[in-house]
Amino acid sequence: MSAELLRALPLLALFACKDSSEPVSTDICLSGRRWVGGATRDVEMSPGSDCIGCHFETDGPPLVAAGTVYATADNASQIENDCFGLEGVEVELEAGDGRIWTTTTNRAGNFFFDGEPSWLVKPYVATLRYTTPEGRLIEPRMVMTLATYGGCARCHDPRATATTDVPSSYPEFVLPVSGLFVE
Ligand code: HEC
Ligand code: HEC
Repeated sequence: MSAELLRALPLLALFACKDSSEPVSTDICLSGRRWVGGATRDVEMSPGSDCIGCHFETDGPPLVAAGTVYATADNASQIENDCFGLEGVEVELEAGDGRIWTTTTNRAGNFFFDGEPSWLVKPYVATLRYTTPEGRLIEPRMVMTLATYGGCARCHDPRATATTDVPSSYPEFVLPVSGLFVE
């Protein structure tokens, strides 16, 4: 190894420490990676959070809808540990006006649509679509709940608190349910 490279190594290690995510054991995160970037702006930021709510409060860019999909139904600890979710899940929203919005989750399991929340006509029907490495198609759909808010984690987080006096047609309405998943 050249002397130059040896001198550069500590520097490289320093840069590595500034990464916004880090590898962890699969006991902690099924995906083997978690977010450690705090509020750093990044498409992989804060998996499992109510992206839209925080962007609204902290002047982040407006998003039409956003969330995180995990590879397990039992995902409370994944959300608590800031774990990356599952990449490659197709997210389809069928809006109240019939418009279909589709995107795919990134390495963090995050998905989002750039734009104003009002662009998604409510209520909408949400469908996840994922083909496992073994070729099995999984396609859960939200039909009973007529969601009027595009920040999925407002409800899709077992730590969420149910609202008692908010009509279900209001964006503030919360009905806690497990994090989004395909399994
Ligand atoms: C703690 C508050 C907070 C949470 C939670 C949060 N964000 Fe952000 N996000 C921000 C802020 C603030 C910015 C803009 C930062 C800036 O302009 O420097 C941002 C920026 C972004 C950007 C722009 C990145 C770029 O390179 O231009 C994307 C995309 C994004 N967030 C996606 C998400 C997604 C997806 C989630 C949920 C899984 C999420 N954010 C959760 C606060 C948050
Ligand atoms: C107002 C609260 C609320 C919001 C907001 C919400 N959901 Fe849901 N979601 C629920 C509830 C409650 C269920 C379980 C009952 C049902 O299927 O309607 C559910 C179920 C689902 C299911 C089916 C899960 C399964 O395994 O059967 C999917 C998929 C889903 N939601 C996707 C989404 C997506 C994507 C978003 C954000 C774009 C979202 N949801 C926003 C409350 C919500």
